[in-house]
Amino acid sequence: MSFLAVVSVSSSPIVPFLVGVFAAYVVAGVFARLYLSPLANFPGPKLAASTYWPEFYYDLIKGGSFQRQIAQMHEQYGPIVRINPGELHIQDSEFYDQLYRRENKLDKFPGQTKMFGMPGIFFTMETHELHRQRRAPYSLFFSRKAISDMSQLITDRLDALCRRLRDSEKQRVPMPLGLGYVALTTDIISSYALADCYHLLERDDLGRSYHDLFLGFIQSCHFIKHLTFIFNMMQALPDPVILWLRPSLRLAMQLMKKMQSDIQATIEELSSSKTHEPKPGLFSTILQSNLSPQDRTAERIAREAMSLLIAGSETTAFTMSTITYHVLANPTTLVKLRAALRQAIPDPNALPLPLGQLEAIPYLYACVQEGLRLAYGTSNRLTRVSRTPIRYRDWDIPAGVPVGMTTVFMHDDEYYFPGPQSFPTGTLARAARRRGASRKVFDQLRQRDPAMFGLAYAELYITIATIFRRFELALFETERATVEYARDYFNPFPEHGGDGVRVLVM
Ligand code: HEM
Repeated sequence: MSFLAVVSVSSSPIVPFLVGVFAAYVVAGVFARLYLSPLANFPGPKLAASTYWPEFYYDLIKGGSFQRQIAQMHEQYGPIVRINPGELHIQDSEFYDQLYRRENKLDKFPGQTKMFGMPGIFFTMETHELHRQRRAPYSLFFSRKAISDMSQLITDRLDALCRRLRDSEKQRVPMPLGLGYVALTTDIISSYALADCYHLLERDDLGRSYHDLFLGFIQSCHFIKHLTFIFNMMQALPDPVILWLRPSLRLAMQLMKKMQSDIQATIEELSSSKTHEPKPGLFSTILQSNLSPQDRTAERIAREAMSLLIAGSETTAFTMSTITYHVLANPTTLVKLRAALRQAIPDPNALPLPLGQLEAIPYLYACVQEGLRLAYGTSNRLTRVSRTPIRYRDWDIPAGVPVGMTTVFMHDDEYYFPGPQSFPTGTLARAARRRGASRKVFDQLRQRDPAMFGLAYAELYITIATIFRRFELALFETERATVEYARDYFNPFPEHGGDGVRVLVM
């Protein structure tokens, strides 16, 4: 465009006209959101009700801090707030059971599930029915019996972790136990779900690149949610260009390719097999399920497997690190836990005991529950959409309105957990009291997801019992900030995660 053309466009009346139309559009939009929306009467800041910019700013620019803004909104406006133009949030531990109970048949909210960037996997299925249908094969795969059969696999991988701890004792060097826990849980889920143990515990660096990859995936969630169009454009690029832009994705591509070829091999094996006996493994379970052929493609199953790898490793490992940090940082707790374990398990080689027997050791149970509470599992709100109106106190939430609650707010609830940031360092009676309260939150999760929690509980109890029964450990240059929730990337992230919890074997 020539200089003259620019001058003539900028001086023509079309520019002020377009600016005026745009301004009128914005004003009308804000007016509609503030006064005509079905959410207009719900409390909350006017700015949050009129635009998504605050959420964008705190999620993306201020790095995972919108959840903290939601906490402030509740302080100012009460237990129910309008957190953005189209969504409500409730902070009330008493209401948690009522909102999420199975009979409500809630749908997931596409505005939230898109943040995982994995369309088609069961976790992101929008309608209750589709979610149920696609997760059905998992129920078989993670049945109670399957989990109890897994204790040998857990023991085998735990022995590898114990070997690493003994090596570090011999060499008198600190052990990055936090990284060791990620290697442990990744080895377990890859062996069990993919029938392809990654053997990270046998690698010199404990498979740090896998941990970095998983964290990278998780940390992209706000970018994908708010800038979905850029993410979709990036997805459409050829692999070499993607690698040039983000070399760290090489491992992800390799894993996906390997999974897809394993799935293809399973498809061929199943079609040539003469027996119709169900075969073990996640791939076979999904391929032999009655899902439609479109749901049984290698590409979709590989995405399911990748999401399971991430969901099944980091959260459990972070919980193990949280328990380890707090037990080692509180001498009284450490002494009590070790005494309880010595009494219940006189011979450390008798481990692993069945999950039921480990859960029956009261102090171990209290430590695991407190660890689960302070590690939070997820830090983002779990937004759901009801097809019928929801009654909350004096409020009628219209059908179709996304509404969420956040685990962090419940686990930090002063009413249930006086001094919520502390671990049970006091008497067993106090620990038991807190335990009784935390049961409420976890029993709910366990009921909703018995399969997932069956595996997570087995890993947590067996690992914590083994590590603290077999080793005398001390923290090495590890601050509380290593395990303390600071930023929300759907999962809780510490401010200074660094190398995770590091220990010296005494
Ligand atoms: C301490 C360990 C764990 C905690 C605290 C935890 C917590 C959670 C929470 C709070 C959710 C969200 C549930 C919802 O949207 O309502 C979730 C989802 C999920 N987690 Fe875990 N998790 C843990 C371990 C695991 C493990 C070991 C696996 C792998 C087997 C796993 C697989 C999943 C899957 C597949 C979902 C999606 C569930 C669905 O959409 O129905 N998690 N987890």
